[in-house]
Amino acid sequence: ANGLLSDSLGRPLHDLRISVTDRCNFRCNYCMPKEVFNKDYAYLPHGDLLNFEEITRLAKVFVSHGVLKIRLTGGEPLLRKNLEILVDQLANIQTPDGTPLDLTLTTNGSLLARKAKSLKDAGLNRVTVSLDGLDDAVFRAMNDVDFPVSDVLDGIAAAKDAGLGLDANGQLTGLKVNMVVKRRTNVDQILPMARHFRGSGITLRFIEYMDVGATNGWCMDDVLPSADVIQRLQQEFPLVALEASAQGETAQRWGYANAAGVFDPALGEVGVISSVTQAFCRDCNRARLSTEGKLYLCLFATQGYDLRSLMRGGQASDADIASAIGHIWQGRDDRYSELRASLPADSSPDGSSAARRVEMSYIGG
Ligand code: GTP
Ligand code: 5AD
Ligand code: SF4
Ligand code: SF4
Repeated sequence: ANGLLSDSLGRPLHDLRISVTDRCNFRCNYCMPKEVFNKDYAYLPHGDLLNFEEITRLAKVFVSHGVLKIRLTGGEPLLRKNLEILVDQLANIQTPDGTPLDLTLTTNGSLLARKAKSLKDAGLNRVTVSLDGLDDAVFRAMNDVDFPVSDVLDGIAAAKDAGLGLDANGQLTGLKVNMVVKRRTNVDQILPMARHFRGSGITLRFIEYMDVGATNGWCMDDVLPSADVIQRLQQEFPLVALEASAQGETAQRWGYANAAGVFDPALGEVGVISSVTQAFCRDCNRARLSTEGKLYLCLFATQGYDLRSLMRGGQASDADIASAIGHIWQGRDDRYSELRASLPADSSPDGSSAARRVEMSYIGG
């Protein structure tokens, strides 16, 4: 492997998103609605999960193919026992040219106050915390397990205290908060969230509610386009568009401006992630590894490639696995969000039905 791998649309392999559990202690309606994810739901049996050695082995192969960013997701990744051990193993992976790996994690924040320090000590660089509102009643209703907002805010504070999100220059650039915006649910939280995080060093990002999975009953009427979010913010805070910080970035960045209309770094920035109204597939460099070791080439894929059986079969060497992953990536032509945008609302771009799409909690965000 030489790090020059590219897919059939010319896109490199840069990010690996690893789901470490399909379970979560929240029941956000847009992700794990209670009616479906109830006590009868069949989560993966323990033996089906990749163990830490298997995850690390695959991660090394991906890094040899050019991956420079690894994100742990779930479900809720902090529910996975001894996650610090995995973080430590991943943090020790060497990249081909010695560039430090960007090792991060997306969490609902519920266990972060307890774990931030040990994750940082294990080598985690930064975290992104999902938080859909500041109002306690709105937040409790959205997580649907009556979880208080104050505990998540404590988790974010603990992450900051632990130094998660500090870059090589000691600047806090990597600590982010993700807010999924859903019409009739939390639109009234946009401004309070912006006021709260403006000037804190924490980057708030607004995410368009997406049609991932098959159980959340998505409809376009529930999507507030990012352009509307920006317009609402602009009424209180002048914003200026910022350059993308990395190729293939999910978010469009906006900086808070000072009285002269110039970006003020002390006030920080916000982002919008507009997968529905402005697809960003063209530069999509993200591979996803499911909890049970299947490689997915798109968040909206209906099928993955079983890497676990390759490893558990006992025959495949690392070079064999590298070559398999290389071939799979080279054949990749996924661009679901772009196709969705050009089709009538109720059809499905790849000819498959939405009913067969994998769940976000299984594949990771
Ligand atoms: P940064 O490295 O901090 O920029 O994080 P990120 O945006 O790569 O990842 P994060 O987990 O914070 O994801 C933010 C939102 O974007 C979530 O709602 C994800 O589901 C969504 N997202 C991430 N990658 C993709 C993607 O490739 N396609 C689509 N459609 N959505 C994505
Ligand atoms: N649409 C948009 N974002 C979603 N997330 C989960 N489900 C959806 C959805 N249907 C978000 C989570 C988390 C990130 C990984 O994905 O809130 O911030
Ligand atoms: Fe859990 Fe995150 Fe899904 Fe909410 S969005 S149910 S916190 S995995
Ligand atoms: Fe990448 Fe698929 Fe998302 Fe497009 S829809 S950006 S191809 S994961």
